[in-house]
Amino acid sequence: MQHVVFNQKGGVGKSTITCNLAAISAWQGLRTLVIDLDSQGNSTRYLLGPDMPEDLPNVAEFFEQSLKFTIRDKGATEFIVNTQWEGLDLMPSSPLLDELHSKLESRHKIYKLRDALELLAEDYDQIYIDTPPALNFYTRCALIAAQGCLIPFDCDDFSRRAATHCWKTCRRSRPTTTRTSRSKASSSTSSRPVPTCPSAWCRS
Ligand SMILES: Nc1ncnc2c1ncn2[C@@H]1O[C@H](COP(=O)(O)OP(=O)(O)OP(=O)(O)O)[C@@H](O)[C@H]1O
Ligand SMILES: [Mg+2]
Repeated sequence: MQHVVFNQKGGVGKSTITCNLAAISAWQGLRTLVIDLDSQGNSTRYLLGPDMPEDLPNVAEFFEQSLKFTIRDKGATEFIVNTQWEGLDLMPSSPLLDELHSKLESRHKIYKLRDALELLAEDYDQIYIDTPPALNFYTRCALIAAQGCLIPFDCDDFSRRAATHCWKTCRRSRPTTTRTSRSKASSSTSSRPVPTCPSAWCRS
């Protein structure tokens, strides 16, 4: 199952929760992947430590290849690294995510992650996606791709309001139920696809 951990409010524990849930999942013997979509890279540092190499394959390179003319894109697995914990892998973040953001948005690459996750689901039992504190291209990608959404929030009134707003924002995306209907939207030549969230997690 694919889970996105999202709140457009910062500092509410998204990265901490992502890494801890993923660690528990791996400890339980499930093949687990974390995808770090936040250019701050906190989950990446949590999982790889402060001495991690700078030139790792990463999620930004995964997105970037869709902007280039290549005969055949590399599979998403090529952008995944092992962590020191057995069964826990990571698609690391990169500062390049910020640079690519507007290009990816303007070229309508919103379904790229969803399509990759459908293939990765064969290799991983649980996938956790950490997101930046914003409702931007990357968080929309993750919300569309995931089957479940966790919204962590602090226990004060401002945070509760932010969480309610966040939930309403997520639900405003038009839900669909099947891949077929979403594929139809993507292949339309007369109009651009409308990003949609899976109805299963909207209900839950
Ligand atoms: N359950 C918790 N109880 C107390 N402190 C926590 C808890 N979860 C996270 N923290 C602390 O809160 C701080 C922010 O956590 P974290 O980086 O996970 O938030 P975030 O939502 O990912 O932030 P950002 O929006 O900047 O990505 C960290 O110092 C973390 O150690
Ligand atoms: Mg974070």
